[in-house]
Amino acid sequence: MKTILITGGNSERGIGLGTAKRFAEEGWRVIILDLAKEPGDVCKKVVENSNGAYYSCDVSNKARVDSVISDIFKKIGFVDVLFNNAGILQWVPFVDVTEEQYDREMNVNLKSMYLVGQPIARKMMEEKRGVIINSGSMGGKDGAAFQSVYAASKGAVIQLTKIMAKELGPYGIRVNSICPGIIQTDIGAGAPDPVVPWIERTPLGRLGDTDDVAGVVWFLANEDSKYLTGQAINITGGMMTF
Ligand SMILES: NC(=O)c1ccc[n+]([C@@H]2O[C@H](COP(=O)([O-])OP(=O)(O)OC[C@H]3O[C@@H](n4cnc5c(N)ncnc54)[C@H](O)[C@@H]3O)[C@@H](O)[C@H]2O)c1
Repeated sequence: MKTILITGGNSERGIGLGTAKRFAEEGWRVIILDLAKEPGDVCKKVVENSNGAYYSCDVSNKARVDSVISDIFKKIGFVDVLFNNAGILQWVPFVDVTEEQYDREMNVNLKSMYLVGQPIARKMMEEKRGVIINSGSMGGKDGAAFQSVYAASKGAVIQLTKIMAKELGPYGIRVNSICPGIIQTDIGAGAPDPVVPWIERTPLGRLGDTDDVAGVVWFLANEDSKYLTGQAINITGGMMTF
């Protein structure tokens, strides 16, 4: 049985849980890390039915991440695929961003990829196999006003992914980032209305849903993408083309 570890997979309408459901349906074991002390009903069902596990874990907290990952290695074993999905978005004008807001968003969106990625990648290097998928964003290529820290963190994730691919490729490990556009989850709450509505800027004529992302993560996790690494894959219905 193959195992995927998904960070930020508790939110009912979120990309993490949408992806978790897809992998569980395909017969994979799903491990989810998220902030809540206890998982929500849907998340609980997915991890139980897939013979996986839920861990309450702030992925920006090194001590907690270390202890969770070592528990996973001890009780479950090898993680075939890591989906670094947890992320937050704060809508604040550049000139008003506080140091605290900056640190929080950078730590959750970027530092977590080191904290969770390092122990998992070390184990993958020993086994000479594995796949890592990092959550970037369309915002990491061309972000919107009032999301300066988000866009900076996601741009950094895209760059980090390229370097991880270069360093880990020789060990048979593939690393890619995904760059979703507007996916209908709770993360966009509080966004100012765009001048041109997002849907009018989307050639495919609709906003994305979590299935659209889960399908791409599934492809990246599997052998059909075995010659693909270091890429930043847009999932934007055509809104972003570079
Ligand atoms: N929805 C979109 O339009 C969109 C677009 C581009 C990129 N993304 C990225 O996709 C990822 C998932 O976003 P989503 O839209 O599903 O958002 P969401 O808010 O529905 O889910 C985010 C999840 O991350 C968890 N989380 C937040 N901080 C955490 C922490 N410190 N430790 C552990 N878990 C934490 C939340 O509890 C939640 O379950 C994010 O990285 C986001 O930046 C989303």
